[in-house]
Amino acid sequence: MSHQILLDVDTGRDDALALMFAVRHPDIHVQAITCVAGNTSVEDAAANTLSILDLVDAPEIPVALGARHPLIESPRDASWIHGTHGLGNVELPVSGRRVEPFHAVELMRRCLLDSECQVTLVALAPMTNVALLLRLYPDVVDRIKQIIFMGGSATVGNATPVAEFNFWHDPEAAHIVLNSGVPLTMYGWDVLWSMRVGALGIAQLCESDDLVLQVAGRLLAFEAVDPSNGTPVIYDCIGDAGTLCALVAPELFGIENRPVQLVLTPGPARGQTIVDRRSMAGEDSAHHLAEPVPMIDVVSSVRNDEVLTLFIECLANRSW
Ligand code: BDR
Ligand code: CA
Repeated sequence: MSHQILLDVDTGRDDALALMFAVRHPDIHVQAITCVAGNTSVEDAAANTLSILDLVDAPEIPVALGARHPLIESPRDASWIHGTHGLGNVELPVSGRRVEPFHAVELMRRCLLDSECQVTLVALAPMTNVALLLRLYPDVVDRIKQIIFMGGSATVGNATPVAEFNFWHDPEAAHIVLNSGVPLTMYGWDVLWSMRVGALGIAQLCESDDLVLQVAGRLLAFEAVDPSNGTPVIYDCIGDAGTLCALVAPELFGIENRPVQLVLTPGPARGQTIVDRRSMAGEDSAHHLAEPVPMIDVVSSVRNDEVLTLFIECLANRSW
């Protein structure tokens, strides 16, 4: 089955892994890539994206810069975990490719209206671009097959004890997307974090004679310093790339359709996604307190080893 997709990224280390997978997987056709501020500046995200496209010998794919600032919040600094420019300590040659001379939202809209079929939007970053698209051009909604996104969490957060980075970075944008009426699949931090390559896997990648696998290994091997206690930490999960694995191989994932709410109020819970896993609606509906809540396909479990194998084999094989 061929997936026609638009990719929205804030190319940091795991977005780069996702780009490699998207370009190399035979069932994925990337119509366009849009960049947004998040892990790094939108300019660095775009430059990193173009360099990764060169690395994997990608065909010409239109890339455009989008929002450099969340809708309401101030930009956040993720350099501790993605490095100063987003790719850890990996230095890639500057690409000769050029970004489009128009905004990412315009590129998204043109692709959606020009496409012969509905298009899947894969959102791997703060949702600022996607929210702007939906607000500026609501006519594109029926051209979107689904939005599958890395964001939120059914349990623990990363940016805060309860909020995941992409949703915490721009909660208002996430709220707009969650309540857009577009079919949604949520690949949250709680499952993302479970899919780790491990020290042996990283070593095997770094020692590969395949440059793409080597770079993937070095991206995974980046040693960050935990800002809370100064200890070294290795963020060795394939991150955003798992979202694309869920798109092409849903049979490797447990998925539940659940009501999902997002907390916008200022305070310790801002940016938290509340996934309602009760077997019945519960007291709130008995007392007529229940507000309509979007129903979202939430990834709840992963067959880790098989997904990691899928990821590595896809990057290793130039053609299947
Ligand atoms: C998300 O935030 C970024 O650090 C990653 O690229 C991923 O999209 C994980 O919370
Ligand atoms: Ca990302």
